[in-house]
Amino acid sequence: MKIIMLGAPGAGKGTQAKMIADRYGIPHVSTGDIFRANIKNGTELGRQAKAYMDKGELVPDELTVKILLDRVAQADCKNGYVLDGFPRTIPQAEVLDKELSRLGESIDYAIDVDVPDENIVKRMGGRRACVTCGATYHIEHVPPKKEGICDNCGGELILRDDDKPETVQNRLNVYHTQTQPLIDFYNAKGVLREVDGTKDMMEVFDSITAILG
Ligand code: AP5
Ligand code: MG
Repeated sequence: MKIIMLGAPGAGKGTQAKMIADRYGIPHVSTGDIFRANIKNGTELGRQAKAYMDKGELVPDELTVKILLDRVAQADCKNGYVLDGFPRTIPQAEVLDKELSRLGESIDYAIDVDVPDENIVKRMGGRRACVTCGATYHIEHVPPKKEGICDNCGGELILRDDDKPETVQNRLNVYHTQTQPLIDFYNAKGVLREVDGTKDMMEVFDSITAILG
């Protein structure tokens, strides 16, 4: 099963992708997480990506496409995967499509998690991420057991650099101009499914499992 998560920044793609990955036993592949891991480890890719991410801009396709194709070529992806944050531009979607066609494969579902911009800005201010393992929390909706400490690994919880209100607004603008056209792209292929992302996370997950079966 090959699934793509679509939706604005903060719509809950990562939250739902993790739950899908656990339920169906397929890897959760997030380009944002890959970039953040590279930044944390001080790699050259991380250094280049950070300059764009901190401004809320997209990392150029030349850098992004290669790391994604390398990732999905790994053995654990042979029975499928859930992509979170990729593709994010039409050229990225076209490259993925071409690569899958070459292998005689295709995307099964593109799930659009729909949340209006007003809700997004509120959600992002409350998100906290673990610096060590990347787990995400929300100070109101998903609080950690102990404030500022990750339940999973005891790491420190921080506000992501790109979750400051001015950067969030730019990420939303970038989303509407560069990523939203993918909704039509996947609709035309007959694989688009929409879910209401304003509902409680478990309700959102129930709508997704009803689609995936
Ligand atoms: P990325 O890491 O992909 O960030 P994003 O798309 O902006 O999305 P987020 O991770 O912010 O949100 P999410 O939808 O995963 O929401 P979450 O589940 O955390 O990308 C970051 C940057 O990397 C980009 O800006 C770009 O620079 C670069 N990049 C990455 N991929 C790229 C690509 N392919 N091409 C070019 N550049 C790329 O939820 C948000 C919060 O809400 C959490 O606190 C959560 O607990 C809470 N929440 C979730 N669901 C609910 C709910 N139903 N009700 C209430 N609260 C909820
Ligand atoms: Mg995410």
